[in-house]
Amino acid sequence: MERHPKLALITGSARGLGFDMARHLGQVGHRVIVSDLNDAAVADAVAALRELGIDVIGKTLDVTDAASVTDVFADVRKEVGVVDILINNAGICKDTPALEVEMSLWQANLDIMLTGALSCVRAAAPGMIEKGWGRVINMASQMSFTAFGRDVAYCTAKAGILGLTRSLAMDLGPYGITVNAICPGVIESAMLEEVAKKVEKRDGLEDGDFLRSRAAAIPRRRIGQCADVSKLATFLCSDDSDYIHGQSLHVNGGLLLT
Ligand SMILES: NC(=O)c1ccc[n+]([C@@H]2O[C@H](COP(=O)([O-])OP(=O)(O)OC[C@H]3O[C@@H](n4cnc5c(N)ncnc54)[C@H](O)[C@@H]3O)[C@@H](O)[C@H]2O)c1
Repeated sequence: MERHPKLALITGSARGLGFDMARHLGQVGHRVIVSDLNDAAVADAVAALRELGIDVIGKTLDVTDAASVTDVFADVRKEVGVVDILINNAGICKDTPALEVEMSLWQANLDIMLTGALSCVRAAAPGMIEKGWGRVINMASQMSFTAFGRDVAYCTAKAGILGLTRSLAMDLGPYGITVNAICPGVIESAMLEEVAKKVEKRDGLEDGDFLRSRAAAIPRRRIGQCADVSKLATFLCSDDSDYIHGQSLHVNGGLLLT
């Protein structure tokens, strides 16, 4: 168990990687705040985590709504205290071919994954600075470094997260706040399921072919699990990771080597 339990807010955590990171942080004794777009999804996630004995509250939050970000962090501070750990996890992954993507979808990618992350940091950092301790994790991706095709908005936003992370690390490090990016490869989640179905339909593949071919191309020969990412996130949120700062850490079974 964590020697110094903290308060952690994870954006986009009603499902997938965000939910799993909330579970892992909760299971080592942190109090967690699940936040996501939809009231019902947040309530279900909170109920599921409480079943596991986790100390959790829920907040409906669209990270693209800057006023709502400010309000939610202010409410949290009043209700339970300063957010010590912020994980900017909210994201979307849609087909965005460079020459055809609607500019509104391009903008939505940047708004959610870049501007939304910065808004949350700006709302959380003052409390962390007062306490002289904080952890910020930004969810980047293997796609911060590579491209698959038809993903100009996602790749651009995820590459931007690396710059955001470096710059935040320079500004916040002196206050006892570490800032790092996690770059997952291919991780089993609803988002990945959607991508797999889309590619299989587009390329006339059988059900399951996409993930089988991805697994075969990964040096560890398996698709990643949410827990592979959550274990790293949990470590980065601990006191023991204090000197890991401004880094982009890969969790991809070696896929980036190929
Ligand atoms: N699954 C993978 O293979 C993979 C790989 C690399 C990076 N990632 C990144 O990890 C993060 C989580 O991915 P996942 O696979 O769990 O996806 P997911 O689609 O299962 O979860 C994303 C969550 O973000 C929420 N969200 C979307 N827009 C939001 C907004 N404006 N405000 C608040 N929440 C919002 C969604 O409602 C959803 O619950 C994303 O940033 C994704 O890009 C995932």
